[in-house]
Amino acid sequence: MSNHIVTEKLAITLQVYDPATTVNYRQYDDKFIQTKAYLHLAGKLSNLCQSFERPIAMLDVGCGTGRYFHVLTNVDRLFAMDYSENMLVQAQHPFREAEISMDKIVFKQGNFYDFDFENQSFDFIYSIGVLGEHTVFDRHVCNKLFELLRPGGKLFFTVVDLEARKTFKRKIMESLYPFVPTSIKQILDKRWETCYLTWNQLENIVSKQGFKTYQIERYASEDPKWKGVHLECIATKK
Ligand SMILES: C[S@@+](CC[C@H](N)C(=O)[O-])C[C@H]1O[C@@H](n2cnc3c(N)ncnc32)[C@H](O)[C@@H]1O
Repeated sequence: MSNHIVTEKLAITLQVYDPATTVNYRQYDDKFIQTKAYLHLAGKLSNLCQSFERPIAMLDVGCGTGRYFHVLTNVDRLFAMDYSENMLVQAQHPFREAEISMDKIVFKQGNFYDFDFENQSFDFIYSIGVLGEHTVFDRHVCNKLFELLRPGGKLFFTVVDLEARKTFKRKIMESLYPFVPTSIKQILDKRWETCYLTWNQLENIVSKQGFKTYQIERYASEDPKWKGVHLECIATKK
């Protein structure tokens, strides 16, 4: 994918997830379990796994330290991929490792956009805190995820709710935007460049993909490490 935001974000990912930061991230997994956000996300993942009546092939996009591996059940194969090698080192011994139900996890290092898994490889794909946050979620990404799903497959992912991040000043600037000169528009466009999405933007992408069903929900997280609002999307393929 040649999108310049993806390239910029990948460079940031390499810088941010240095060895020390990823050790801290992994250590925080033990505290994260006390948050409502953990119960909420772990519950959703667990329910989605159990909604299949057979063992399933799964893909975790941007698995990080493998924070949720222990809640996944009914799994035949799990592919866990991440761009950060340091994160993947931590994911070798993830949180609650002893409770993990699958025999084997296949780790893949790289940029999700460059991976060419065969189409219809997975029953369930999830991605938490990655798309529409650290990297782009657009119609190409949505199409790629859709194609990777088998018929009846499910996709669960979160994006950051752009509307909830906007300050009062930004909202004023947006209302003035149509009236400012092109040079100012260019400055604002650059300043506002983001992977975050509004509800309408997200729905616009997902609704056009041809999923049998999709639902979007807002979730406000009080996790001390990340306070904010996510849009959570569950979509099912025909
Ligand atoms: C905030 S962490 C979330 C990790 C994990 N999903 C969780 O919920 O704890 C974001 C992760 O996305 C990964 N990531 C960002 N861009 C990526 C890309 N283009 N391809 C694969 N992984 C990516 C980062 O390396 C990082 O591990």
